[in-house]
Amino acid sequence: MDKNFYITTPIYYPSAKPHMGHAYSSIIADFFARFKKIDGFNVHFLTGTDEHGLKIQRAAEVKNVDTLKFCDEISETFRKLSKTLNLSNTDFIRTTEERHKKTVQYLWNILEKNDEIYLSKYSGWYSVSDEAFYNEDEIETIDGKKIAINSKSEVEWVDEESYFFRLSKWEKPLLDFYEKNPDFISPKSRKNEIISFVKSGLKDLSVSRKSFSWGIKVPNNKDHIIYVWLDALTNYISALNYPNKENDLFKTFWPASIHLIGKDILRFHAVYWPAFLLAAKIELPKKVYGHGWILSGDEKMSKSKGNILDPLEIIEQYGLDPLRYYLIKEVSFGNDGNISQDRLEDCINSDLANNFGNLCQRVTAFAMNNCQGLIPKDIDFEKEDLVILDDFKLNIENIRVKIDEQDVNYYINFIVNSLFVANKYFNDQEPWKKKDNPKRMNTIVYTTFEIIRKISFMLYPIIPDSALKALKIFEINENNINFSSIMNNNFLEQGKKFNKIGILFKKIEK
Ligand code: MSP
Repeated sequence: MDKNFYITTPIYYPSAKPHMGHAYSSIIADFFARFKKIDGFNVHFLTGTDEHGLKIQRAAEVKNVDTLKFCDEISETFRKLSKTLNLSNTDFIRTTEERHKKTVQYLWNILEKNDEIYLSKYSGWYSVSDEAFYNEDEIETIDGKKIAINSKSEVEWVDEESYFFRLSKWEKPLLDFYEKNPDFISPKSRKNEIISFVKSGLKDLSVSRKSFSWGIKVPNNKDHIIYVWLDALTNYISALNYPNKENDLFKTFWPASIHLIGKDILRFHAVYWPAFLLAAKIELPKKVYGHGWILSGDEKMSKSKGNILDPLEIIEQYGLDPLRYYLIKEVSFGNDGNISQDRLEDCINSDLANNFGNLCQRVTAFAMNNCQGLIPKDIDFEKEDLVILDDFKLNIENIRVKIDEQDVNYYINFIVNSLFVANKYFNDQEPWKKKDNPKRMNTIVYTTFEIIRKISFMLYPIIPDSALKALKIFEINENNINFSSIMNNNFLEQGKKFNKIGILFKKIEK
């Protein structure tokens, strides 16, 4: 089995401050990366910033600062955000880095050598906000302004010499590829829109610009810069130091296991990127997953709409793990989701504070007073204990399959249900009434400890800090978390001292 796992987030435009949509892409990617890590995979997790193109050049001009300086500053805020979100990324790439430029120019040279690129002239519509070219039938006129129908962003007319990539040639190979690799475009619900776009006929794609300079130069024609999407998409291999084949990174991690992106940029990842790779004879990534949008008042959050929810403010007010938990649980993965402070507070109070935090407190307090502060020994599992404990063992393969299908909802529902069952078990078993039967009392406490341990292992990819705090009860640290061990019902060493922990989640007064 392939035990390497390479996951990427989109690289973010540093044209504005990070918002909740960016945080969402990154948190979900981190969830998968951490899960795979505790499941024994060698994980490479890449994120970064996409710094070229007219959009960035203009944003810097508005501020009247040097473009690279402008990028340095905002890229740094994204790097800080990765830390604030507690991402476990193993690399952070900037497209202004030398390692990236070298790969992009190398790829360009291969495409040119393979006769996949030719010089001509582009006359048509361009959206700077999307950094995308649009056909006449993809735009509409609203209040005298030309607007891209899908993204609602304004377009402008471009008329200039440009290199073209022979995209049209790849129509049939792409359709064949989608057919042979039915999971390549995920979720399934978004597959048809891409297939019908390709079937409707692909036109050759303009891949260079001449009228501005903020980009990577075309190797043999310094008047042109390379189209920002060809530049940006290449980050997924430049970060692996492609074409350096001696280097283990590319050999080990390419093709990527999954490119995680928002649905608005699926066309670039599911059509253009695979076409570039086919043309350069490089293997294609295994999967591209287009998640839904975080909505604010039913609209996609964006700077131009002024409806941005600031992740940093939410984290400041509630803490990071509640936000991570909330986004993973309440936004049904793959679909759009509305985020509300009210629901966030409900999640904290009911799932995190009551069902998880409070259970940890109750069991440790009880065991402190009744089991001499030790993980009980002299235990004998009965049927009602094993039913709960074995539920993890019975579902372990299923959970792995669901993770590989990006069924985040299944994963989180399994946890929510286990927490419910664990609380009910502790209440129903009433260990406080079993003091005259120490074996039974000890078994109930041990069983509940084991369930807390297993659930904390599963919570780790979602709320790493809080899960680790809970695991301090058993002196388990990050390196000892191993997903396979949720099968083990006797993981905790009997007779060992355990620790009391502080409150995990504070309840919110509503
Ligand atoms: N730079 C390109 C990506 C290049 S990848 C080779 C880009 N950048 S972006 O900053 O505009 O967006 C980055 C990601 O954030 C996209 O996947 C986009 O879908 C996601 N989000 C932006 N707003 C969003 C929401 N409101 N909700 C969820 N995600 C959205 O596109």
